[in-house]
Formats: sequence, structure tokens, C-alpha cells
Amino acid sequence: MAEKIKKVGILTSGGDGPGMNAAIRSVVRYAIHYGLEVVGITRGYQGLLDEDIVPMDHRSVSNIINRGGTILKTARSKEFGTDEGKFKAAEILHKHSIDALIVIGGDGSYQGASRLYEKWGIPTVGLPGTIDNDLNGTDQTIGCSTAINTALDAIDKIRDTAQSMERIFVVEVMGNKSGYIAMEVALGAGAEDVIIPERQFNYAAMHQEIIAGNKRGKISYIIVVAEGAATAPIVAENITRYTNLETRFVVLGHVQRGGIPSGQDRILSTRLGAAAVDLILNGYFGKAVGVLQDEINVIDLKDATRRVHTDMDRRYELLKILT
Ligand code: F6P
Repeated sequence: MAEKIKKVGILTSGGDGPGMNAAIRSVVRYAIHYGLEVVGITRGYQGLLDEDIVPMDHRSVSNIINRGGTILKTARSKEFGTDEGKFKAAEILHKHSIDALIVIGGDGSYQGASRLYEKWGIPTVGLPGTIDNDLNGTDQTIGCSTAINTALDAIDKIRDTAQSMERIFVVEVMGNKSGYIAMEVALGAGAEDVIIPERQFNYAAMHQEIIAGNKRGKISYIIVVAEGAATAPIVAENITRYTNLETRFVVLGHVQRGGIPSGQDRILSTRLGAAAVDLILNGYFGKAVGVLQDEINVIDLKDATRRVHTDMDRRYELLKILT
């Protein structure tokens, strides 16, 4: 099986994340080093269906290790989501003599890569590319570290105005159905509270805490909200309604997806890109690579999706002790 692989395709799929370019660079150069031909597929699975396939060489990935976004572009493809779409994708891969496919993406992209392997026999390997950190088999996903830093940078600035104007701020962060970014950001920012999908939140208790704090002279608060748990405008409106204190909200949104990748994301991406190619060279497919406790880790793609963080109660307890 291993001898058969001559040509590898690479694509980025779903929401982009800082560090994806570093992963592309690593895959392309490492694969070429070991004698493989590499082609880039632009705009994710949709680009594959549209046969947007470009040759990649050593120089096509020059000076991208420090750039956010993805030079291959990305998309969420409705057509690929169907079985017919996946069948068509498999046919196109055969037509272009692409022997194996490396997919950098999140939950949905992994599900697609897994199905391509299980049902259509396409040798696929996944790299965890999403800011959400919601994939199994890796401590962190590519982009998460930078997204957290970006949100922290924004909250530090918000804190300045919150204190100066004696206001409460509700800050909504991304994360899809996961509260990981929100919890990490809340801990890192020293926020007063955090609302995440993984745990039930007692709004009445928060309102009471704010009122009691206000009586003691505490006037500025940062409340972090995961987009999967609540919406910032509503949380802010209710705080004002129940506490009678001036509240503002900020939805950080896509700003968290861009920017210069952190050192951690660049290094993670670089190690994972090479690890993905190693799997292909050794004939292991339908797998996802990750880093667990600083070691490269490999699991089946089908087991890598839908990670639920189980230690959120403990982190929340810590947050509240330190508040
Ligand atoms: O999965 C990454 C992510 O940024 C999520 O945090 C967010 O819910 C979603 O993508 C936003 O997707 P889109 O860019 O399609 O609006």
C-alpha cells in the first residue's frame, strides 16, 4: 500500500484558523523531501468538486509560516455534504491520480474525510485545524492558541474602558458548540464570570453577585460568554434589567479567526504537517494526527470528532475562587 502513494492532495476546509498556512508549508516541504508530488486543492471540498487543483512546490509555500488565513482558501461545501458529493469527490481524486488526501479542518471536515475513507476507500489523513479546540486526540487544535491571545488582547482593552467608565461588559467569543475558548479566555483575562454550554449557568446568582459587589464598591465586571451558550446582547440586557447597572456588550466575532499565528500554533502546525505525511509514507489512513502531552498522537478520524471538555467545572471553580 505504502509504495502506491506518489501524489498527495492537500486542502483546508471549514473555518480558517491562524497556523493553517504553517501546516500547509510543513506538509508540502516534508512530502517533497520524501519524494512525493503535492497538489493543493483550493476552497476546501468545494474546490475539489470544482477541480480547482494546483501543483505545489517548495517555493509555493515560501513566507507563509507567519501569515493568518489559508493560502489554499477554504469553504463549507453543501454539495460535498451529500453522499453523491463525496462519490464525485472520490472520482475526481482518481481522475487526477491523487493517491492520498490531507485535510486540515475541524469537526465537519473530519467527518467528510472519515467518510471518504470508510465508504469510498480514499486514503485520507486529518490535521486538526479549527480555533474551537473541539477535536479528540490532541491537546489543542491549530488556531486555538492565537484565537485565545486575540480575545485576551481585546478584553485587556475593554477592561481599560470598563474600569474608567465603571461599566459591566459582556464579551462574546467564538467556539461553536464548545466553551473551551470562553473558559480559557475568562481564566486568562481574570474575568468575573463565564457562561459556557458545558455547564448550567445560574443567571440569578450572577445578578445577585453583581448587586452585592456593587454595594461593596465593585463597579466594573467582565463576563465572557461562549457563542454556543448565550448571546451577549441578551445577557447584557438582562444584567441591566435585574441590577440597574450600566452594561455594554462586545461580540468579538471573526476577529478571533485572523492575525499572525502564535508561536504555539506555528510549531504545532509544523509538527503536525510532518506527522500527517509520515502516516501517508507508512500507509496509515483514515487517521487524525494530534499532539498529546507534547508527543505526536494518532487516532481514527471517526473518533476524533465532537470532543467535549470534561474539566469545565473545576476550571469554573478556580475562576470564581480567584475573582
Ligand atoms: O469553527 C470555527 C468557527 O469560527 C466557530 O467558532 C464559529 O461558530 C464558526 O466557525 C463561524 O463560522 P462562519 O465563519 O461560517 O460564520
